[in-house]
Amino acid sequence: MSEADELTVVVLAAGGGTRMKSKTMKVLHQVGGRSMIGHVLMAVRAVEPQRVVAVIGHQREQVGPHLQELVPDIVLAVQEVLDGTGGAVRVALESSGTTRGTVLVATGDTPLLEGDVLRRFVADHRAAEQVVSILSGVVADPFGYGRIVRNDEGDVEAIVEEKDATAQQREIPEISSGILAFDAEFLVGALPRLTNDNAKGEYYLTDTVRIAREDGLTVGAFRIDDVRQTEGANDRVQLAAMGREMNRRIVTRWMRDGITVMDPATTWIDADVKLAEDVTLLPGVQLLGATVVAEDAVIGPDSTLKDCEVGAGARVVRTHAELAVVGDGASVGPFAYLRPGTVLGTKGKIGTFVETKNADIGAGAKVPHLSYLGDAEVGEDANVAAGNITANYDGFTKSRTKIGKRAKTGVNTSFIAPVTVGDEAYTGAGSVIGEDVPEGALGISRPEQKNVEGYAERAKQRKGS
Ligand code: UD1
Ligand code: CA
Repeated sequence: MSEADELTVVVLAAGGGTRMKSKTMKVLHQVGGRSMIGHVLMAVRAVEPQRVVAVIGHQREQVGPHLQELVPDIVLAVQEVLDGTGGAVRVALESSGTTRGTVLVATGDTPLLEGDVLRRFVADHRAAEQVVSILSGVVADPFGYGRIVRNDEGDVEAIVEEKDATAQQREIPEISSGILAFDAEFLVGALPRLTNDNAKGEYYLTDTVRIAREDGLTVGAFRIDDVRQTEGANDRVQLAAMGREMNRRIVTRWMRDGITVMDPATTWIDADVKLAEDVTLLPGVQLLGATVVAEDAVIGPDSTLKDCEVGAGARVVRTHAELAVVGDGASVGPFAYLRPGTVLGTKGKIGTFVETKNADIGAGAKVPHLSYLGDAEVGEDANVAAGNITANYDGFTKSRTKIGKRAKTGVNTSFIAPVTVGDEAYTGAGSVIGEDVPEGALGISRPEQKNVEGYAERAKQRKGS
């Protein structure tokens, strides 16, 4: 690769985002299960940059570590004084030592931005040999944006900011998205020439367009049709609208890829979720985080799965699950709560009003009703009857309950952990099992039944007297 082909991406994220009214910095607010700036950094990967520089300022102690987690080799450029987008890019170039190639500038709050658009934009910028290229769009309401001013020949002359625009310029519907591509050498020369002699008293990056034109250099705009990709979210109303739009896009994409979604309006799928062909999602399903669902599984209605893995052909009904694994052909719910560390084997069953945590339930094993299994291991093809409870916590330490293969526990068995029930063993209904039950044995611990003869008759006499 020649130095001229080098690509540096600069993401601007120093601004405060006060309209969010939040302890959390604007670009860290999430849509689709990822921070807004996380989406931008993901999109940027499509242009295969040699380096990514993020300009941080406000709440940098929050933003910096988040960015380093997403892109470990990111260059963090600290803008001490927020003196405008021009000042921000200047700090970015200085911190990264960028002097050559192409510089792509984006902002951190445009979560709908897609890699494909950036790829075409950068390709267009390079092919046209422009020193500045603007990703522009025609919008219904251009208020607040920088307007693209063109001359009679249609060539781009300048970007004029809202506050500096004349009434006539404010009528221009073509706006700058804030995403710009530059020839680095031009940019390095132009930035020190910016002045803050404008309505906001800031060094506008967008004034580089005017500088290029004054120098007789070529500038151009690349119009994006899907303008929502460059929209930012500035307050929580816009954040919610953006979240809905992102979800609409994600759900639509999955339907095109072979997923049945009965009600797209009530189905929420995070950006990092992965689904296989012929998965069916019934109304009211939220698939969050890094959830993965294998083919032919049916989820819903009304289920939330976060960071879960669901096997092929599994059935999950009205369930809340987090960090759980559901095996192929297994069945969960209705009304199950799978907490972290739940692993349900192939064709296993976790039924109604069952809560599990750190529980490994073997292939073909069944926990059909009204149970709590915490820190437990259930062997394959075992059956845990209704109302079984593991007493896994004595107030100090957590202990494990092991139930063997093909074991059959009686209803309302309590397991006082640590305790082991052997393979093919039984427990009697209502038993409190605090001692190990050997393989094939019956563990029973309830007091013997006593019948008091003639009790009803005597009760009647007492009332009568
Ligand atoms: C900017 C553009 C405008 C464009 C619009 C698109 C300028 C002068 N204007 O306007 O042409 O239509 O975006 O949304 O560039 N930032 C810093 N440091 C600063 C100032 C800003 O990092 O000193 C960051 C902000 O965090 C934000 C981005 O740069 O992510 C844009 O800044 P903002 O002040 O919101 O500019 P706009 O007025 O929206
Ligand atoms: Ca803005």
